[in-house]
Amino acid sequence: MRILITGGIGFIGTNACLLFSKNPGNKITVIDNFSRTGVEKNAQYLKDNFPKIKIIKSPVGAINNYKKELTKSDVIIHLAGQTAVTSSIKNPHHDFKNNIFESFILLDSLRRNNPKAIIIYSSTNKVYGDLRHRHRFQPIDESERLDFISPYGCSKGATDLYFLDYARIYGLKTVVFRQSCIYGPHQIGVEDQGWVAHFTKQFLLKKSIKIFGDGEQIRDLLYIEDLIKAYQLTINKISKARGEAFNIGGGTKNAYSLLQVIEILEKKFNHKIKISYEKMRVGDQKYFVSKNEKIKKLLGWRPKTDFKEGLEKLIDWQHNNITI
Ligand SMILES: NC(=O)c1ccc[n+]([C@@H]2O[C@H](COP(=O)([O-])OP(=O)(O)OC[C@H]3O[C@@H](n4cnc5c(N)ncnc54)[C@H](O)[C@@H]3O)[C@@H](O)[C@H]2O)c1
Repeated sequence: MRILITGGIGFIGTNACLLFSKNPGNKITVIDNFSRTGVEKNAQYLKDNFPKIKIIKSPVGAINNYKKELTKSDVIIHLAGQTAVTSSIKNPHHDFKNNIFESFILLDSLRRNNPKAIIIYSSTNKVYGDLRHRHRFQPIDESERLDFISPYGCSKGATDLYFLDYARIYGLKTVVFRQSCIYGPHQIGVEDQGWVAHFTKQFLLKKSIKIFGDGEQIRDLLYIEDLIKAYQLTINKISKARGEAFNIGGGTKNAYSLLQVIEILEKKFNHKIKISYEKMRVGDQKYFVSKNEKIKKLLGWRPKTDFKEGLEKLIDWQHNNITI
């Protein structure tokens, strides 16, 4: 199978490369513009350990740089994009260009050049807005009303809907994943995005953490390998998955508040670090836990990795790869 992974040296992309490389029959091409700080380390790791993976340094929107690969692909996993709400508010134009415009160029080019390919889009739980009207502690399914807050919410949400509509109108094999918080090795967590990896890094370096809000926000945390297995299942069962959007997260068993994660880390590292508090960020959900019923029913997927087990793997990786 020929697989094209956009954003392929990012966190999810690198892990997708690792898992899909296990099948020697897979030929993988990565497209990435190397814009995220620190991802060149993932690129080096892939070059050293998986020399057969072809890495093309290019923006997703510059199709001519990889048109041959796109046209021949059986599967495209579209992960490239601007990933932080905060950055989208500071620079909405940049967010629009990277998340909507370049995604559209990719999707429409596929329609014209390779409409039989499967294409997976990594959307987000942020398409459901801040969910203030919701009773807390109620897992969210795909029937929840869409409510895009922030330029990031708008750009991810618009692209999410474009992908679904291209299945409806043009018969493309698109699948959308509305992902909760994903964590694991190869994640370069920063204050603006990837909070679990950011917290573990701060503990390792004995540096402080800034919390936006009271820290009681709850998220269901999904270990990266479980997500990539869902991508694999989707490809294998495309007739069932085509044109669908799936909420996907660690579920109620892996739901933790920020403060609970800090407590776990205090015990694990046997030290405390300074915590400060700031006003809650716009659009932030007080509670988001994904109801994974649809993906369980249609594809037989469920999260397998317990959060504490996955956290150990993330910390092990950071021990050897941390950049100060
Ligand atoms: N990590 C999560 O918890 C999470 C949750 C929900 C949704 N997502 C979505 O999943 C996708 C992947 O997330 P991630 O955590 O791996 O992020 P990441 O930042 O680690 O990876 C994204 C990669 O895309 C590249 N990139 C950015 N803009 C590009 C462009 N225009 N052209 C080519 N390459 C570009 C970056 O250099 C980076 O390597 C993103 O679209 C994100 O919105 C992630």
